[in-house]
Amino acid sequence: MSAKIISGSEIARTIREEIAREALRLRQEYGIVPGLVTILVGEHPASVSYVTAKQRAAHELAFYSVQENLPETVTEQELEKCIDRYNNDPKIHGILVQLPLPRHIHEQKIINAIDPDKDVDGFHPVNLGRLMIGGDAVKFLPCTPAGIQQLIVRAGYTTEGAEVVIVGRSNIVGKPLAVMLMQKARGANATVTVVHTATKDLAAHCRRADILIVAAGVPGLVKPDWIKPGACVIDVGVNRVGEKTSEKTGKKIPILRGDVDFEAAMEIAGAITPVPGGVGPMTITMLMANTVKAAQYAANIPLAAKH
Ligand code: GUN
Repeated sequence: MSAKIISGSEIARTIREEIAREALRLRQEYGIVPGLVTILVGEHPASVSYVTAKQRAAHELAFYSVQENLPETVTEQELEKCIDRYNNDPKIHGILVQLPLPRHIHEQKIINAIDPDKDVDGFHPVNLGRLMIGGDAVKFLPCTPAGIQQLIVRAGYTTEGAEVVIVGRSNIVGKPLAVMLMQKARGANATVTVVHTATKDLAAHCRRADILIVAAGVPGLVKPDWIKPGACVIDVGVNRVGEKTSEKTGKKIPILRGDVDFEAAMEIAGAITPVPGGVGPMTITMLMANTVKAAQYAANIPLAAKH
């Protein structure tokens, strides 16, 4: 049996259409254009490509968007000053600082400098606190976990009472996702286990999972015998394992591989996300959804969107 492929690209397209309708309503009824600034420090190729994709998505949705490119040598103070300018700019509703930052910059200090009401990444301690409380307290869901939740629900899987195992405990994916999926809420209410580098028998935990989410950053970590037959497998890993020449453009492009041994997993899983084309497009889409939400919160407009 071959697993169903959960296409993040297709689901993202559907959600972007929903976002476009909501953005149009905002413009027509209230004269508001959602505004997003993406701040990139240095020229790390993966970060450049993520930020370019975020800007393209904002452009396609006709948002007001600004790209700030700062040199690798920028100081913490200069970066904080730049953020503060956008904290005080009424045309900007969402601020994203692309991570990771150079080692001389204290990442948490920078996240703390973003106005929590413009923190469309959902990384500020205030927004993580709101996420812990759940329900109406939540303003912004972190984008990758929110995208994963949408993938699971829209692929038709039930999280209620399901055994969910998350591989990885990062602040960006594992930790917030665990909190989201354990809430007593729709698209959640799961029994969540988080496994990590100190876990004794990773495979045994993974084998129990009805829904297995892998965000370890280790190419091909999850083998087919780690997967429960019929499970839903979400592969968050985007590992650059080499380079190839694009047939379309003739340019060098990275060869990407997920954290799951995809070909072998196809024979065991019930459904699986590909890499690329799985979680990646969803992260960017949820960033756009959060930017629209930020614009609505700023103007006290009731939310109509369902994500
Ligand atoms: N680096 C990798 N993922 C993300 C993300 O979701 N947001 C930001 N700001 N940086 C990232």
